[in-house]
Amino acid sequence: MLDKLDQIKQDALDALASAQDEDALESWRVAYLGRSSAIMDVFKNMGGVPQEERGAVGRAANQVKQALEAAFTEKTVTLREVALQHSLSEERLDVTLPGRAIPRGRLHPTTQTLREIYRVFADMGFQIYLSREVETDEYNFQLLNFPLHHPAREMQDTFHIVSEEDRGDNPLLLRAHTSPGQIHAMREYAATDPDNPPPVRIILPGMCYRYEQVSARYESQFTQVEGLAVGHNITFSDLKGTLSDFARRIFGQEVRSRFRASHFPFTEPSAEMDIECFLCGGDGCSVCKDAGWLEILGCGMVHPIVLENGGYDPERYTGFAFGMGPERITMLRHRIEDIRYFWANDMRFLEQF
Ligand code: DAH
Repeated sequence: MLDKLDQIKQDALDALASAQDEDALESWRVAYLGRSSAIMDVFKNMGGVPQEERGAVGRAANQVKQALEAAFTEKTVTLREVALQHSLSEERLDVTLPGRAIPRGRLHPTTQTLREIYRVFADMGFQIYLSREVETDEYNFQLLNFPLHHPAREMQDTFHIVSEEDRGDNPLLLRAHTSPGQIHAMREYAATDPDNPPPVRIILPGMCYRYEQVSARYESQFTQVEGLAVGHNITFSDLKGTLSDFARRIFGQEVRSRFRASHFPFTEPSAEMDIECFLCGGDGCSVCKDAGWLEILGCGMVHPIVLENGGYDPERYTGFAFGMGPERITMLRHRIEDIRYFWANDMRFLEQF
């Protein structure tokens, strides 16, 4: 029996010598000191040892167990020491160095303006409606009362998508404005109750594309925010009230606005809204080109043909619509002189916002 104890001890110490990390050490502890280890079996089976040997075997077993425990503790300390030395030489962490500042991200200036616009219109009960960027000629033009070959189409030179199939008079294109979303939205709303379509009060933000000669004033890619309100008894004064209030909330409570007659195929009557130049207060400066007023958006009463195309009976429903360019608003507010900065990814520009 005493020989067997010697063997147990020797096996355990041999195994311990090859443990090189904390996991191996823990496995060793379970195997050689745990409940079903050989040494524990000796204690468990003490009853079977002849009476006269029991004292000596018990003492020897205790010694083996203590020796193994001591060896385990020693090995643990050694391994930790080795690990510490290793990390000190490998990592060389100087805890007295000042921390590294984490550069903070920021929102693109257009995104900041868009979010302000969303907030103002959300306060007035408008919901956001997202519409597609790839459109058909039908939605981008025809349903908005731009007849085929109408010269007004040339106001917006359009990117066409080259497609395998010939779509004839209805080619695919990148939307040139957010207005086609008006038709998608009205049709979707009207489908819920074709005889009595529900009122609409939405803004439609998104990217638009035009085949432009890129310059300080024109980019081929830009955002717009369209607005649409349709219901019973909506009048031009609702349009004026909504948009004047919008201007005051974005540009300051003091700012005055004015509406000038204009023309768009999808509204009748149509107007453009100017705000009093908030930089010079109307006296004239370089931003307003001495006019004292700044053009901010186009708007009007939704054309009966457009209402009809959206599934709303123009005899029973009226509505207003508007469209604005968040880049232009951002340029005016921050006196940015070149629209190309918005897509140039120049950190010197972006970091200013
Ligand atoms: N779609 C016009 C454009 O891109 C902007 C516009 C003007 C939208 C008047 C409207 C509106 O909804 O009523 O130039």
